[in-house]
Parts: sequence; structure tokens; C-alpha cells
Amino acid sequence: MAYSAHPSYSGLFLTVEGVDGAGKSSHLDWLADALRAQGKTVVLTREPGGTSVGERLREMLLHEAMDLETETLLMFAARREHLAQVILPALMRGDVVISDRFTDATYAYQGGGRGVSRNKILQLEQWVQGDLQPNLTLLFDLPLAIAAQRLAQGRAQLDKFEQESQVFFENTRAAYLERAADAPNRICIIDSAQSLEATRAQVAHAVLSQLNLNLTAYL
Ligand SMILES: Nc1ncnc2c1ncn2[C@@H]1O[C@H](COP(=O)(O)OP(=O)(O)O)[C@@H](O)[C@H]1O
Ligand SMILES: [Mg+2]
Repeated sequence: MAYSAHPSYSGLFLTVEGVDGAGKSSHLDWLADALRAQGKTVVLTREPGGTSVGERLREMLLHEAMDLETETLLMFAARREHLAQVILPALMRGDVVISDRFTDATYAYQGGGRGVSRNKILQLEQWVQGDLQPNLTLLFDLPLAIAAQRLAQGRAQLDKFEQESQVFFENTRAAYLERAADAPNRICIIDSAQSLEATRAQVAHAVLSQLNLNLTAYL
């Protein structure tokens, strides 16, 4: 059954996106804490993963080589479980859900990076989530040379995706930017080549202008 008939919910669904090393994780705890300080109940989660089944799929997805269509299907299998067990129940309760990656990442990585057709991803998206979309997506964007440099400094061990080629990441980044151009009301591009402080200020600005929640006191 698709989610096209899902009841309306009172929560807020936020996602953060961007290539590896773009700076997503660096702002998640701050964002969650700032929203909690505003009285929100926040569920911080990630993809692939976020559930027991999803985390086991994540292990496979990040560390085992597999057929690219298998990879795409497993991403959506993990997503379905995540929606059913975590995201939708939280949104129904009225919570704020912040997910470190969601479906835009599949369009970017499996679509842009690996070349799975957009139409196949669209079919799986409709099957798994119907018309459910995040209320706001923060797309952390920066020149890939900077992302690679930051990853090289910050990470001891790189997963299957983080070890991909420059061409893969160029295509992934381009697909993310294409998504943003197609959904300008949902996806806010954050220039994460800037300092942590300046990047965070952009996040606060996006949350204020899109969701009318003022987090600037916590900057
Ligand atoms: N604005 C920034 N300026 C300098 N270094 C940064 C900035 N944002 C993140 N970093 C560093 O870059 C690395 C990757 O950031 P991270 O938040 O883990 O990226 P992601 O979660 O998108 O892969 C980390 O070591 C982090 O400390
Ligand atoms: Mg991260």
C-alpha cells in the first residue's frame, strides 16, 4: 500500500543532504538542540538506517559491493522501514523529525552517481512514500575539492561511497543541484564552503524563512 492515503500530520519533517564531507553532521546536533530549546520534541535519525532492520541494511550498503539496482532497492527497503517505524509515527505525534539523508540522496547517489534511471527511482519513491515529502531539505553544497580535503582530515576509515571517484561525486553533486532547481520551495542550498559559523547562520536563516522558526538566538 502506498502512503498516498496517509493522514495529515502535525509534525515537521526536515532532511539534510549533500555529498560526503559536505558538513551535514556538523550541524545536526546544533539544529536539534536549538529546536528543542524552542519547545519542540526532536527525533534525530539517519539514512540508510534509523531502525534495527535499516541499520543492518546500512552495513551491507556501505561496505559490500553489489549490483546497482540491488543497491537502489535496498535503500528504499530501509527507507520504507524507517518511515513505518520511526518517521511517520513521530510526525503523527507532532514531533520534528530530522533525517541525515533521505530520498534526494538516492536521486543523487544511485541516480546521478551510478546512473540508475530517474524513472525507476521515481517509481520506488511513489511505492514507498507516496506523496510524502520533507517540509524542508537543507542541501549542503561546496566545491568537491574542499569536501575531499575535509574528509581526508576528519575520517580515519572511508566507506564504499566515500571512496568513490571524483567523477562520481561531480555527478552526485550535479544531481543534488538539479533536485534543488526542481523543488526550490522545499530544498534550500546551504553554501558550506564557508566557516562553520557562517554556514550555521545560513541554516538558521533557512529554518526561519521556510518554517517561521527563529533559531538565531542559538547561533
Ligand atoms: N564549515 C566548515 N569548515 C571547516 N571544516 C568543516 C566545516 N564543516 C564541516 N567541517 C569538517 O569537515 C568534515 C566533514 O564534515 P561532516 O559534517 O562530517 O560532513 P558530512 O556529514 O556531510 O559528511 C569534518 O571533519 C568536519 O569537522
Ligand atoms: Mg555525516
